[in-house]
This record gives sequence, structure tokens and C-alpha cells, in this order.
Amino acid sequence: MNKIKNTLFSNKPVTIDENSLIMALESSCDETACAIVKGGREVIANVVASQIKTHEEYGGVIPEIAARMHLEAVNVVVDEAFKQAGVKGKDITAFAGTVGPGLVGCLLVGMNAAKSLALAYDKPFIGINHLNAHLAANFIDTELEPPFIALLVSGGHTQIIEMKSYSDIEIIGETIDDAVGEAYDKVARLIGLPYPGGPKLDKMAQEGDPFAFKLPEAKVDGYNFSFSGLKTAVLRLVKSFDGKELPTSDICASFQECVSSTLYKKVKRAAEERGYKQVVLAGGVAANSEIRKKIFSLENEGYKVFAPQMKYCTDNASMVASAAFFFENTFDNIDVEVFSRTR
Ligand code: KG4
Ligand code: ZN
Repeated sequence: MNKIKNTLFSNKPVTIDENSLIMALESSCDETACAIVKGGREVIANVVASQIKTHEEYGGVIPEIAARMHLEAVNVVVDEAFKQAGVKGKDITAFAGTVGPGLVGCLLVGMNAAKSLALAYDKPFIGINHLNAHLAANFIDTELEPPFIALLVSGGHTQIIEMKSYSDIEIIGETIDDAVGEAYDKVARLIGLPYPGGPKLDKMAQEGDPFAFKLPEAKVDGYNFSFSGLKTAVLRLVKSFDGKELPTSDICASFQECVSSTLYKKVKRAAEERGYKQVVLAGGVAANSEIRKKIFSLENEGYKVFAPQMKYCTDNASMVASAAFFFENTFDNIDVEVFSRTR
């Protein structure tokens, strides 16, 4: 795949091909990350500075603190990525940065760093949608190509996406209230697990009985989802113990069973009805053990299933560089502004 991109000021055309090195920055939430990826699939450097320890104290991400921490970390992760890759700025073909959706003050740091590097080395700047980046995590070290149906499950989004080609991407279903990651974090908090609760809930669930409690599966039209009713049902269940010791692992396992079977059924139906043979899992929650297991079980039904390697599920910059290489709907403009919500 060859793409021609222009530099920002001198308008010098640059060809992006299999040998191109793309450096990307990601700072949409609580990870400051920088990566260098060759030809969209081969990671040469992957550096992630996580702020989780700081936000743990507050039980969630405080945007102003996160933005300030990105500022402190951004030069460090860029230097480290150059060091890991053993290359210099002049060797980079293009610089990419996440422009949204995410926390505006946070996005500004990574995007402006990427724009500055692009200007300094007179290379193209490629602005990336964070959700496309999560999808692109599946291109790393694989031979995946569209068309496919994707299930994107992250802290802020839950979507079923039809990706017909690198330029034709349609969201055919999404949550009408909480995102899956959000539901995990809220339920985890309810039962006393520290932020971010998703991975901890997943771990506890593995020790519990998934059929201990019958929790309600929301009936939502089409390929859409709803998880706020389930969250309320868990709250009611917790209250019903009236201060007595909670069967925490059974609650976690039952919640995880309910969420994962809903996701499985909807994505399977979408693939069947829309005639896709490849199913792709993406987003931070793609790290979840039971969701992975259920989605991979589609391989027994004739589907080819992809999910990112664990380190590329949650926020990282390799997926941003890969998206810059493959996707057509990028923001290649010095004037592009960050945005907080999907558009
Ligand atoms: O994709 P991501 O890094 O952030 C957004 O782009 O929103 O995903 C973070 C989310 C958090 O809600 C976190 O709790 C959840 O992914 N998560 C998990 C697991 N690992 C991360 N949720 C359930 N099980 C996991 N193993
Ligand atoms: Zn993310």
C-alpha cells in the first residue's frame, strides 16, 4: 500500500510504503505513549508511561492532573522511543498523533508534540481518531485486511463496526448508555475494587461461578447495547446482602458472564447477517479473559477471529502509528483541532 502525504509547510510529497517508519504519540486519557512502527505492522519501539498509580488515589482520571502529567512525560517517551528504535528524527517518514475522542487538555499535549516534530523535520503530520487506532491494533504483527466486523469495547465506547475497506468504515451499533469498560469500572467500584477496576474484576471473576446470580441482559434494538440496567441490578444485588460479606467472585463472574454473552451474541449476529467471515475484537476491554474466550470461540463456527496482543489492547501509540499507515480517513492538516467526542 502506497500513500502520498504532503509536509505541512514546504508541501513536499512523501510516499508512505512498506519501508516507512511512522512515529506516533498518544495522550487521549491516562497513558502518555510514543511508538515507531515500520510498514504499519512491525513495532520498532513502543513506550508507554502510565498514570494509573496517580489516578488510583482519586478513584478515576482527573483531567487537569492527567494533562499536566502528559506534559511532564511527553519528551521522555519520545526520547525513549528514538533510543529503542535506534533511529533519528530525520529517519521518520511521518509523525502521527491522536486528535480525539478523549480529554481535550490531554490530547493537546500529544497532538502538538507530533505536529512540532513534523514541522521540525519537515515531514507530514497525520491526525488519528483514537477508535480507528484501537481497530488498527489488530494489524500489528498480523496479515489482517478488511473487510471485517469489529467489536470495539473500551472505557468510553462500545461499538459494532463494519469495516469494508480502509476508507469505508461504518458504525452499525453502539451503546445507548454506559460503555463496557465504564460498566466494568463502575461495578468494580461498587464492590470495593480500586480504579481501574476492569482488569481486577476480570481476575476475581475467574475464581467465581458465572451462573451464581442471574443478571438481566438488556433487550436493545439492532446491534445496539445498554449496560446501565445491568449496573443497577448489580447495585441491588450488593444491597441485598445488607452489609454481610459479599460473594465477590461470584458477583464478578456473573456480571462478566452477562456482559460477555451479550457481546458475543450481537457481534455473531452482525457477522452472520452482514455476511462477514472475519471478526475483530478491539479496545481496552479486548484484554478481558472471558470476552476474548467467547469471541475466539467463533473460530469453531467458521470465522477467522483477531484480537490485539495484550500490550496493544489498552492505550498505546503503536496502534496510532498503524492507523496512520492504513486508514484513509485521517486528519492530515496542521490546523486540525482536538475533539472530545466521536464525530
Ligand atoms: O481502550 P482503553 O485503554 O481506554 C479508552 O480508550 O477508553 O480502555 C480502558 C478500559 C478501562 O475501562 C479498563 O477498566 C478496561 O478497559 N479494561 C478491562 C480489562 N482491561 C482493561 N475491562 C475488563 N477486563 C479487563 N481485563
Ligand atoms: Zn483507548
